[in-house]
Amino acid sequence: MTRPKVLITRRWPASVEERLKRRYDVTLNEDDHPYSPAELKLALQNYDAVCPTVCDSLPAEVLNVSNKRCKILGNFGVGYNHIDIDAARQQGLIITNTPGVLTESTADIAMTLLLMSARRGAEGDRLVRSGLWTGWCPTQMMSSDVTGATLGLIGFGRIAQAMARKAHHGFGMKILYVKPTAADPAIAADLNAVRCASLEELLPQCDYVSLHCPGGLETRHLINENRLNLMKPTAHLINTARGDVVDSKALIDALRHHRIAGAGLDVYENEPHLDPDFSTLDNVSLLPHLGSATIATRTAMGEKVLANLAAFFDGGDLPDRVV
Ligand code: DGY
Repeated sequence: MTRPKVLITRRWPASVEERLKRRYDVTLNEDDHPYSPAELKLALQNYDAVCPTVCDSLPAEVLNVSNKRCKILGNFGVGYNHIDIDAARQQGLIITNTPGVLTESTADIAMTLLLMSARRGAEGDRLVRSGLWTGWCPTQMMSSDVTGATLGLIGFGRIAQAMARKAHHGFGMKILYVKPTAADPAIAADLNAVRCASLEELLPQCDYVSLHCPGGLETRHLINENRLNLMKPTAHLINTARGDVVDSKALIDALRHHRIAGAGLDVYENEPHLDPDFSTLDNVSLLPHLGSATIATRTAMGEKVLANLAAFFDGGDLPDRVV
């Protein structure tokens, strides 16, 4: 019996690649290079399933390629704003993602960035490495308290709620959130979380603001100059969601002129080619999109894709169908 042809666009944890090889006629990306649009088009023409990830851009122009063999995109990642969903739907392509398994690791990175930004962790590391540190003194690198401060969450899905648990139960933080619908009352009660009617209501009250909404056209530049101006000058902005939720130029300007105290970023507009001005600022902590980058999480993400592919090729219900 011929096995389905499956293409994986980037390297995955070895244990998952082994499992793929056992069941499918699989093509791996041995040198882990980013696929070009032409390679992605060829993949759609030559494989039954293509498994892209968050760094593969799949606009209509790629998805509409003629003579497609591919029936399913098993996305390695929960976010799918890199895929033109309307074009996929029109082309009859099924899309699945990997929700649930990266919740805690992504919330951990959001908390890491919050602590780094508040306590000037990256800046302190640079000072020690530079050899310019002259020793402890009472006024050196003073920073902001985290314990007991107010955290505002934009979006209140799985990852935001996991961050709220860590912040509230671990650091005694007060939790505010904005979300189109109210959270489950039991969850809100456990976190003592208060819903705000708008960003305009939430932003002026927060010491820390953390973004947890999906990327895409609806949320592009949700955090712009006007909204940055609503934040306290002592506040910090944390982004582990998607880069284009924040207007980078406006954020750079706000940081440069100390209209907000700091920012912690894991994601960027035009990733990985972030605005070079970020690197000139001491009050921003920069990570290379590490949210889900633990061995256990990345393995679990691969296993989720496997489960979705298995359901598709066995004719069962797809556990994580997006389209
Ligand atoms: C996702 O899954 O969307 C993250 O950005 C990468 O883990």
